Amino acid sequence: MATKNYQTVKVEKEDGIAWMILNRPEKRNAMNPQLHYDALDALNEIATDKESHVLVLTGAGNSWCAGQDLKEYFRALENNPAERRKAGWASQEWRWRLLFTYPKPTIAMVNGFCFGGAFTPLIACDFAIAAEDALFGLSEINWGIFPGGLVSRVLADALSYRDAMYYIMTGDPFDGKKAAEMRLINYAVPKEKLREETVKLAQKLMEKNPATLRAAKEVYKLCRNMDYVQAEDYMMAKGNALRAADPEKGREEGIKQFIDDKTYRPGLGPYKRKKA
Ligand code: COA
Repeated sequence: MATKNYQTVKVEKEDGIAWMILNRPEKRNAMNPQLHYDALDALNEIATDKESHVLVLTGAGNSWCAGQDLKEYFRALENNPAERRKAGWASQEWRWRLLFTYPKPTIAMVNGFCFGGAFTPLIACDFAIAAEDALFGLSEINWGIFPGGLVSRVLADALSYRDAMYYIMTGDPFDGKKAAEMRLINYAVPKEKLREETVKLAQKLMEKNPATLRAAKEVYKLCRNMDYVQAEDYMMAKGNALRAADPEKGREEGIKQFIDDKTYRPGLGPYKRKKA
């Protein structure tokens, strides 16, 4: 599928990975309304692109994303409620609703600054890897606001109570190493290894059955807010749906290779996929 041109987002596709790059480096990739519209469109394109198996979200230049654009998203829309509503919807749609249950695995590759509203897509992604010297900050308290949009809500899932309260209320910045220590991200690596480590993780994910991967993340993410009865029922239905719809028939194949062929032992590597 041809890659579209956007004003504020760049999409590069290579070896099964779609790199979505927030592309306003001169504004540290702060999110203005156009960026929300572009990101939403690009994510929808990649979702159905047959050659893209893993999505990586990153930023151009020395920043991942400096949060909402204080000039163009906040101040400029103050007296324009219709545009504010439209931009606000697009902003929540791509940063949370779409990314949280994106049909493909998602990796946030945090190459630099990550502030305020950037925490929403950071936490929505399935994985996050950062440069050790990336700089994170819930800076809102210093602007006379609090982490809004969905930031405070998603922080409740991603940080401990003590860490969240500390950084929400002090606004102190922290680096990639600290983010890894708090488990906000999976790991931090030296900046020169960031891309290589991200590709390594993406390749590991591309070896798995994509239908199973998709179902596994949806089940885990959606069950978190269900009670036990709902979760059990949902997982039963989802398991049946996966079995019926998986073009690779992974469940049958894995069991056959274990029981009949005796060629597969869980824990010793994946069963041999018969790709559809
Ligand atoms: N909204 C609007 N513009 C922003 C922005 C934001 N969130 N973050 C950066 N920019 C703009 C700056 O205004 C500046 O624009 P200018 O060149 O027209 O003056 C440009 O991006 C470069 O920013 P600058 O501060 O000079 O870069 P820096 O490398 O010295 O610092 C940051 C980078 C990210 C530490 C700093 O820009 C910053 O603190 N930004 C705000 C981050 C934030 O608190 N976001 C949460 C908002 S709720």
